[in-house]
Parts: sequence; structure tokens; C-alpha cells
Amino acid sequence: MDQTLLLLRSKRGTFYLLLVGFLALTFLVSACEKQSAEDAPKEMLIGVAGPMTGDQSKLGGDLVRGVQLAVDEWNARGGIENRKIRLEVGDDVHDPKQAVSIANKMVNLGIVGMIGHFNSSASIPASSVYHDAGVPMITPASTNPKLTEQGYWNVFRVVGRDDQQGKVAADFAIKKLNAKRIAILHDKTTYGQGLAEEFQKSLKVDPAAGVEVLSFDGLIQGDKDFRGILTALKGKSPDLYFFGGIFPEGGQLVKQAKELGLSAPMMSGDGVIDPKFIEIAGAAAEGTYLTFTADPEKMPHAAEFLKKYKAKYGNELAPYAIYSYDAANILLRALSEAKSTEGLKVAESIRTMKYDGAGGHVEFDDKGDVKKSPYIVWITKDGKFEEYWKPES
Ligand code: ALA
Repeated sequence: MDQTLLLLRSKRGTFYLLLVGFLALTFLVSACEKQSAEDAPKEMLIGVAGPMTGDQSKLGGDLVRGVQLAVDEWNARGGIENRKIRLEVGDDVHDPKQAVSIANKMVNLGIVGMIGHFNSSASIPASSVYHDAGVPMITPASTNPKLTEQGYWNVFRVVGRDDQQGKVAADFAIKKLNAKRIAILHDKTTYGQGLAEEFQKSLKVDPAAGVEVLSFDGLIQGDKDFRGILTALKGKSPDLYFFGGIFPEGGQLVKQAKELGLSAPMMSGDGVIDPKFIEIAGAAAEGTYLTFTADPEKMPHAAEFLKKYKAKYGNELAPYAIYSYDAANILLRALSEAKSTEGLKVAESIRTMKYDGAGGHVEFDDKGDVKKSPYIVWITKDGKFEEYWKPES
């Protein structure tokens, strides 16, 4: 065989070899792509946690209902990046240790964002777990300042803070009620005691107001009989008594205070403004003052949410559901806009978001707090809550 023919054959051989190699590689790449598409998670898991059982279960239930409504709407629109959103519900029973264990469980399950927790005493310890795992969290209800003072990049809240809430309560007590003799009670929790302290601090800002704080006492959360502490309080003849805590104890307090003939009104905060408070206290709830955000029934931007919420869950008042609905929408929009489930990117998307939600306009400051203090004062009247007083803005 002459040299030219040999050369030609070997070139053709190399060509065929290369072609076969190329085809094999193409096949391999496309097989891998197909495999990884099959492996790609079809769902996006987010968490929600709060007290789902026990004496505060109404609050946890409202939290889930608001988040579920948002999740259902996103899923009806196709989810995010063709992935359906699935909601994992955790029950922390408003217990700090249980909250940490729920947070670890959520992280192990692979949540890409967290709505919750409800109580500050749960959100604060749980926030460290989410922080360490790089998971963004938005609480719809925890108001203790410490939550966003920890310097965590992953923590946000769509409600106000107790330094704002306590100040509005104190301004109201001084300017509107002209109260001079004030007794303070709290439930010794992070939220309850914290709010009571903020209220006390604000009462004392202006000595010219002449307010005397008669007492500052903690009671045991979970107790049902507060007659001892209330009898001592009655002996001090207060114009007003303040309670930092949640409705199960708040309801018993006003009920037993009225039974004991204590005529001073009670004032409390967002933890008490729930129909369960009126259910527990009955007629004794009348005239109780409570700080909370403005009435959604009067807000045009809340109308659509209220219609959908009531159609799905009925008419029972759920003060915090609107905040969990907005919190979930903010998280889901951030996941969608970030085009990533990476915690840092999602948190950045939340931080820079301008969100017009059911509860109004939301923008976050560098700490993860909402920029505007939302508190006003409500009164319990004719078995219902109604707006009563707004601070000068
Ligand atoms: N605002 C209440 C808390 O922070 C519910 O615990």
C-alpha cells in the first residue's frame, strides 16, 4: 500500500473516532441534563410556626390561615419557577425551647424561608437557628425590639415594635385619660414584660405629666386565678392598670378585677386584641383599651384580602392573619424576584422591596423593622373592638 493511501485511511479513522467521541459526549451531557431535571426539586418548602395547640392556639391558627391563603394563590398562578410551594407548619406552643427545636426541624427539612414565629419569646431564640442556617425569616407578630437588634441579616418583621407600642399606650394614658396613678402588671415573658417596661419608660419621660407608677408586678403565665395580685392592686386605688401579656391571662384579669370591684380600666397591647379575650372576660371586657394597628375593615387596600379570607375561613376576627398573609407574600415575591433560594439573595430582595400589601405599604429599614410605627388605641365596646384614639403623627 502506498504512503498516500495509508495517510488517507488514518485521517479518516481519526475523523470517525472523533465523531463517535463527540456523539457519545453529547449523549452523556443530555442524559445528565435530563437526570438533573428529574432530580430538581419540584417543590419549594417554606415554614410557618407559632402556638398551634394550647391556650394561644387561636393565634397560631390565624397565622397559618393567612400564610396558606397566600401560598394557595401563588400555587394557583403556577408557583415559583415552575415549583409548587409547600407549607410546613410547626407548633412551638409559645415555648422558647420548643421554638428552637421547631426551627432546627424546619432547617433540616430544607425550608427556603420562614414565616414566624408568633411570640417574641419564640422568635428570638429561633432566629439564631435560622440565622446560622442562612434562612430568611419574617415574623408577622413578634414585637419585642430585641428581635431586630441582634444584627441578624435574615430577620424581618411586618409589625411594629414594643418601644413604639408602649409609647403610644403611655401617651394615651397621659393625654387622653389623664391618668395619674398607674399600676403595671406583666406575664414575665419577653413580650409581656418588655412591653410593660416600655410603657413604664414612656410614662416617665415627661415628669410634668405627674404620673405615679404604683407597682410593677409579674404574674405567672398559665395561671387562672389572679385575685391575690388584683386585691393588692385595688388597695392602691389606681386610675388605670396596664397588662403586658396575652389574652388568656388578660381575659381572666379584667373578669376577676370587675368581680373584686376594681373600677379602673385595664389597658393592654396587641397580645390581647383577639375575640377570645371577650369570650373569656364577657361583659367585663367592656371599656378595656388596647394598642394595635388600624382597622383593616376601614382600609381600601385590605378589602380584597378580607373578602378572600372570609370566603375561605369564615367571619371570625383574626387580627394577625392579615400580617401573616402579607409576610408570606413578601417572602414569596422575594424568592421569585431573587430567582434563587440562596438566603442572602432572598433577604436582599426583601430588604429592598417596596410592598403594597393588604395591611398597607411596607418598607424595611436596615434592621429589618418596618419604617413606620403603626399603633393606635382601640376600645372594647358592645362586645367588639373599635378604633378609639390615634396619636398625633
Ligand atoms: N406581639 C406579641 C409578641 O411579640 C405577640 O410576643
